[in-house]
Amino acid sequence: MIKKCLFPAAGYGTRFLPATKSIPKEMLPIVNKPLIQYGVEEAAHAGMTDIAIVTGRGKHAIEDLFDNNRIIEEAVANTDKAELLKETNALMAACTFSYTRQKQMKGLGDAILSGEPLVGNLPFGVVLADDLCAGNNAQDGVLAQMLKIYEQHGCSIVAIEEVPEQDTHKYGIISGREIEPGIYQIDDMVEKPSAGVAPSNMAIIGRYILTPDIFDLLRTTPAGTGGEIQITDALKAQIGKGGVIGYRFRGRRFDCGSIHGFVEATNYFYDHFFKKA
Ligand code: G1P
Repeated sequence: MIKKCLFPAAGYGTRFLPATKSIPKEMLPIVNKPLIQYGVEEAAHAGMTDIAIVTGRGKHAIEDLFDNNRIIEEAVANTDKAELLKETNALMAACTFSYTRQKQMKGLGDAILSGEPLVGNLPFGVVLADDLCAGNNAQDGVLAQMLKIYEQHGCSIVAIEEVPEQDTHKYGIISGREIEPGIYQIDDMVEKPSAGVAPSNMAIIGRYILTPDIFDLLRTTPAGTGGEIQITDALKAQIGKGGVIGYRFRGRRFDCGSIHGFVEATNYFYDHFFKKA
């Protein structure tokens, strides 16, 4: 059973300026719910109720989302608006939240390493909130699917999906042997390769289950693509140790770090979960 889930949330979200000048990108709403709340719901649904968030300057709104706000609670008490806070209150009751800051913007690998004091020495989930995932139904979240794969294999697991070849430069790309339908024993991974040199078109998306030896590997991982410490490079080092599995998940994923994906997600969630019949 994995209880911890780490949310790297220190990035600036510059693609969403001017909104992200004063709002953390994780707080941008898809319809009426902030992106990070979808991620925390997915983690809690998988039983990962110890939520650890790596933040940075200007990210207080995330902490406020998962804290009581008596003024608002009182304002909506006994009105039909009270309903709108129910899910958030249930999530707050089910989960614990802890926070630390990434001191320098040195990449996703460094952000994950910054979370070590919150995570400790047990396997943990990682959610990149701007990859918004919708399972095929409410009981089939992507992290919950990955947990089942972890229970069978006991090593780090990355979620993967096929992307158009011209998009490989946006992702960590894996290659591997399909050992069961949708489950790959990874033999190589590269961070953001260009189309001609990518080992495949199977991209890592922002869901991971990591074994805690990843922290020692991250400590010795040099800066890679973009001059940043990459989780992909540390995972590559794990291939020869415990092994790493790629899992082609069921469901849809929206790249809410891009305007296009954000709008797509908004339309999808509005149609599937919000629009009244
Ligand atoms: C990060 C990872 C990359 C992964 C991607 C998924 O990149 O470094 O390997 O494919 O998330 O969204 P970023 O999107 O932060 O540049």
